[in-house]
Amino acid sequence: MSKNNNNNKLLEELKLQRDSALKGGGDKRIESQKKKGKLTARERLSLFFDNSEFEELDTFVQHQSKDLGLDKKVFDGDSVVIAYGLVNGRPTFSYAQDFTVLGGSLSLVAGKKIAKVMDLASKNGAPIIGFNDSGGARIQEGVDSLAGYGEVFVRNTLYSGVIPQISIIVGPSAGGAVYSPAITDFIFMVKEVGQMYITGPDVVKSVTGEEISHEDLGGSIAHATKSGVAHFVFDDEAQCINAVKKLLDFIPQNNIENSLVKDYQEIDSPIEKLRSIVPEKSTEPYNVLDVINNIVDSEDFFEIHSNFAQNIVVGFGRIRGKSIGIVANQPAHMAGMLDINASDKAARFVRFCDAYNIPIITLVDVPGFMPGVNQEHQGIIRHGAKLIYAYAEATVPKISVILRKAYGGAYIVMNAKELRSDLNLAWPTAEIAVMGPEGAVNVISRKEISESDDPESTREKLISEYKEKFSTPYIAASRGYIDDVIDPGDTRKKIANALDIFTKKHSENPPKKHGNIPL
Ligand code: HXC
Repeated sequence: MSKNNNNNKLLEELKLQRDSALKGGGDKRIESQKKKGKLTARERLSLFFDNSEFEELDTFVQHQSKDLGLDKKVFDGDSVVIAYGLVNGRPTFSYAQDFTVLGGSLSLVAGKKIAKVMDLASKNGAPIIGFNDSGGARIQEGVDSLAGYGEVFVRNTLYSGVIPQISIIVGPSAGGAVYSPAITDFIFMVKEVGQMYITGPDVVKSVTGEEISHEDLGGSIAHATKSGVAHFVFDDEAQCINAVKKLLDFIPQNNIENSLVKDYQEIDSPIEKLRSIVPEKSTEPYNVLDVINNIVDSEDFFEIHSNFAQNIVVGFGRIRGKSIGIVANQPAHMAGMLDINASDKAARFVRFCDAYNIPIITLVDVPGFMPGVNQEHQGIIRHGAKLIYAYAEATVPKISVILRKAYGGAYIVMNAKELRSDLNLAWPTAEIAVMGPEGAVNVISRKEISESDDPESTREKLISEYKEKFSTPYIAASRGYIDDVIDPGDTRKKIANALDIFTKKHSENPPKKHGNIPL
């Protein structure tokens, strides 16, 4: 046989082998995947990478297990596809579990494949994005499959704060399988398609007697609104993948790079709308998103966790083309009070921004921590402490603007000067005090009120005296706790000018192995 003929034959065989491998668990199972309204692993990767182009690795890997009939269920590539390519023109690594192969269950080799692509992502300083669609540990492999999870978990942990890690839940994610996504930075779920739980409805029923559907127990709505496990929910996979790409565009490739700087259109200052957002009456609500949208470039604010702990808003935007993280109390929900969930949500976001060199802008309008037996007994002390810790520890540029209320512990928590904030501004509507006027007068003047001839008018008088003292930002400004009191219309300009100057900010924490954040 001539050399050319031989080469052609080898190439033909390679094509046959690859075509067969690319079918995963085969046509029937692909059909069943489609019937469930799901894309296949490779279709997901095609939607994700620029021009649907990606390089796949380990296409021919097979499991080596023989027990419980596994010797007859061998598929090239096993239950996960690993790949790299460009996303938004930047190197990106990914894995997509293949449900058509034994329900995407994680074997030892599948775990090793995921570990391989994570190692490559880390070595190349690029994000890792995982599509999760799996029945959990491969039952027939026993402890080997558990070791596969171990390989993944340890990398999720070691690469946390080194490269961004994002999980997309597009199928079941059951048992220990939930814990890899849980360690990653952001979890995206697709409605009616992704479910996460440590035990499914059957086990729940047998242990607690509760009857619940898969979706109600671990679907996207439950996790986006109640548990806070999911940061984003989308109606379909294409929308979800687009949102992941949008998020990637706001953040850097790794912890030693900065985010991309985008084109922007300068906004003429002052921005009139900002002057009339805060209502005259200090107890009236308003939507802090109206403030945020008037500060960021092109009103383009990418909110995170929008359905969870809505009393605080977190997300990414840009000012003069540079990415910023925004944390803002939301007076339109529970008066913007800080509770357990809001503290957790904001603390985790502050830490992400700090790990990835993204300046943090804090917009403050907070009447305090939420009082109540439930909050106390669920541990608001422990959870609120996380937010103080996160802000105090963060070394990225930190800027706050007090829009209205900044009362008590919540004033300090929301990036007060002493937590090493770089610039603390206030609007003329700012009120900075240990507590609100009614509460304060009740504590410090109870005796005076009860002993007076006309308790009601005495109370009114004392409250108005208190308000006069604390309903302006000038006392805090006179002591240097507030660096400047500004025209609300100039807020964007003041923040933008500061960010332009603070780009080389250098700040370090004392040397240590790691701190002990109250978890
Ligand atoms: C091996 C599995 C599997 C698993 C599913 N399959 N899960 N094979 N190990 N864990 C196989 C099925 O046998 C079936 O193979 C194929 O995948 C498709 O599964 P179906 O059940 O037909 O699909 P569906 O009806 O969509 O249900 C999906 C499912 C269900 C809800 C995920 O399969 C299920 O409940 N699986 C078990 C979930 C679970 O309890 N996993 C273990 C968790 S413990 P055939 O050949 O029949 O098509 C765990 C510990 C990890 O993960 C700890 C790490 C620290």
